[in-house]
Amino acid sequence: MKIAENKTPADKRIGIIGKGGSGKSTVTVLLAEVLRDRGYDVCVLDADSTNIGIHQALGLDKLPTSLMDYFGGTVFSGGLVTCPVDDPTPLPGADIFLDELPSKYYAQSQGGIFFLVAGKIGNKGPGAGCDGPISKITRDLKILGIGDYPVTLVDLKAGLEDPARGVITSLDWAIVVVDPTNASIQIAVDIKNMVEQIKAGKLPSTKYLENPKLVEMANKIFIEAKIKDVLVILNKVKDKEMENYIKIKLKKGGIEPLGAIYEDSSISLSWLKGNPIESDRAKINAEKLIKKLEKNLRKANLNLSA
Ligand SMILES: Nc1ncnc2c1ncn2[C@@H]1O[C@H](COP(=O)(O)OP(=O)(O)O)[C@@H](O)[C@H]1O
Ligand SMILES: [Mg+2]
Repeated sequence: MKIAENKTPADKRIGIIGKGGSGKSTVTVLLAEVLRDRGYDVCVLDADSTNIGIHQALGLDKLPTSLMDYFGGTVFSGGLVTCPVDDPTPLPGADIFLDELPSKYYAQSQGGIFFLVAGKIGNKGPGAGCDGPISKITRDLKILGIGDYPVTLVDLKAGLEDPARGVITSLDWAIVVVDPTNASIQIAVDIKNMVEQIKAGKLPSTKYLENPKLVEMANKIFIEAKIKDVLVILNKVKDKEMENYIKIKLKKGGIEPLGAIYEDSSISLSWLKGNPIESDRAKINAEKLIKKLEKNLRKANLNLSA
């Protein structure tokens, strides 16, 4: 029997944002595993249109068929999924009960983490078009029926493009991963400013849209954005001195990070070999981060009553 929709708790969506190579996928895997260990029902959405490998870091050997195929392909190849910038209209059929989704479209890690892929452009041939349609799936997809304490971690593609296309509006929290570079610190400040502007009611750019209905739709999506806060996690930190330096820089931008994951050569070796991430040190770092993150989850009524 299908579970009544109103009895299925809405998942909390946490998007992982950051510069290319900052460690978004690494942080996603570490957070997913710690959340799972703490009793949450965890789903990871691989929303990076380009890079592959997070499935292996989660211990899965096969990439599931992408949701882009499930939804019928991009508009550029004659399919149904449009770019959210040209066409902000919500993706039809984006609320999916996991038990109704054919099993080729998802995988489950040994530890029970569900894994789905929004789409990849790598196998779409020359001139495949822009990856906006993948952002639309990322923005609109809602997997229902994962469990009683559902959390979806969305591993976004590098940089600011996904948030700028509106993906940020369907996240409850954005986590920015900051590696020890100036560029990463700037991205954290930019995302924080973007979210403050959305919360203050600033509307998206729609000057290029000719149809007033589409303008209205784009505005509605931003007005109804559910984003609550931007959190920052430092990654690849080498020592305390470096950690303090980044913290001082972030403080100038009004940001206090949740905490740090230190550099660990076993993590880079896992990515090189395509093996699951197994770093006790990083796990301990990640547990501390989750305890702080849980304060936010609790405020949003998603606590595991201890
Ligand atoms: N804490 C860490 N310690 C050591 N190496 C790391 C750490 N986090 C990430 N890496 C290295 O950085 C590379 C990029 O990390 P990844 O998580 O794939 O970044 P992103 O998803 O942001 O592109 C990985 O291949 C890995 O070698
Ligand atoms: Mg990645």
